[in-house]
Amino acid sequence: PLPERFRTPLPIPPVARPVLTNSAGDHIVLTQRVADAHLLPGVTTQIWGYDGIFPGPIIRARRGRPLTVTMRNQLPVPTSTHLHGGIVPADSDGFPLDLITPAGYSPAPPVQHGTGARVHEVSRDYRYPMDQRAGLLWYHDHRMDFTAPQVWRGLAGMMIVSDDEEDALPLPRGDRELPLLICDRAFEADGSLRYPLRDMAMHHPGADGDFLSGIFGDVILVNGAAWPRHEVANVRYRLRLVNGSNARRYRLGLSPGTDLIQIGTDDGLLAAPVMHREIVLSPGERCDVLVDFSAYPIGSEVTLTNTLGTGPAAEIMRFAVTRSATDDTRVPPKLADVPVLERSEAVEVRQFDFRFGAGRWQINNQPYDPAGSVAAPRLGTVELWRFTSDFHHPVHVHLGHFQVLSRNGRDPDPWEGGWKDTVDVRPYEAVEVLVKFAGYRGRYMLHCHNLEHEDMAMMANFDVV
Ligand code: C2O
Ligand code: CU
Repeated sequence: PLPERFRTPLPIPPVARPVLTNSAGDHIVLTQRVADAHLLPGVTTQIWGYDGIFPGPIIRARRGRPLTVTMRNQLPVPTSTHLHGGIVPADSDGFPLDLITPAGYSPAPPVQHGTGARVHEVSRDYRYPMDQRAGLLWYHDHRMDFTAPQVWRGLAGMMIVSDDEEDALPLPRGDRELPLLICDRAFEADGSLRYPLRDMAMHHPGADGDFLSGIFGDVILVNGAAWPRHEVANVRYRLRLVNGSNARRYRLGLSPGTDLIQIGTDDGLLAAPVMHREIVLSPGERCDVLVDFSAYPIGSEVTLTNTLGTGPAAEIMRFAVTRSATDDTRVPPKLADVPVLERSEAVEVRQFDFRFGAGRWQINNQPYDPAGSVAAPRLGTVELWRFTSDFHHPVHVHLGHFQVLSRNGRDPDPWEGGWKDTVDVRPYEAVEVLVKFAGYRGRYMLHCHNLEHEDMAMMANFDVV
């Protein structure tokens, strides 16, 4: 039976405390380990978590302050960690074969030279220069062939990057700023996570042809709690949402309805706020919205809904407006400087077709080849990438942030302005994006962020040159 909804208080993950902080930056240590968690009320579930919690600790980073994350692996399987939305050197990008193996793990994963494949025993450092604007990033596992089951078991967490531009705005902060990682999961009767993998020892690639649309769960978790409840004052709150689901898309709204005042997308603030009644969020995407709870009388119950879901999946969490308070926040008409990329700036046009073929999910008729490379954009340039598809594929590009130019020749959806790194490509659509390759040369990747599709080979490398 599913747990009773809207009883569990919303958990907020703790902020990771640096072990060292000085003029050179911050240093954080995270340990991936097996732990017991309470995802369902009164039930113990074994998870794999960063520091043993799900979601992992919130990493607070500051633009211009380099961050080193020492990752230690105490799990029974190899891992690789990707900072989604991060502009980071290739050797810290979480390449799927750049692994941390547990102590004594055997057989050692094969290292194919020239591919970015490496093996670190037990621990390694990821270096994040944080030379990027404020935004909500997230970090998650990216192990070759097993990203989906390893994220499902709990290897995901949020990173909040701040900067001066954002600090100067009169936005809600402190306990009025809520990072919310939304995902669906399924459970066995004994409370363990249910993931239909043929080889639970995780030596052979995971989800197979029975799960072509990806793995869905019937329980909606927010910050690791099933359908939580959160008490709010009748003031503005800032909801920073991540869709951390393997395959589920959400169309978010509030019931009773009021505006979602969107101030940001995947990679930071929009130029100006945009009002919506609903926002679609596909796996990997983020959105940053203000909700003004003064629209509701004290005593109101306001549900965050998902009109793409049915039954219990049609609801996500509930806010209870329990008290009045003063509000010194405003919705600034101008949020940030966001240069608008023009089609004419693109120095190259490339097409990537996301489609099922030869029994697998492929890009341009090729399953993932760790040694291959499908593009060599030049550092500092802008390219027009055109994504076509046969199904829903949330397409994610590492390193390069982009702006959505068109959908089937028309304007993008109203909620996908600004800088993004993931775009929801829908069945038989052609989506054009302008990608800016800034930061570093080296090998990165693009892939479908339906994690089962990713594990079924819908990935490709590209080299920034
Ligand atoms: Cu969020 Cu390559 O992934
Ligand atoms: Cu896909």
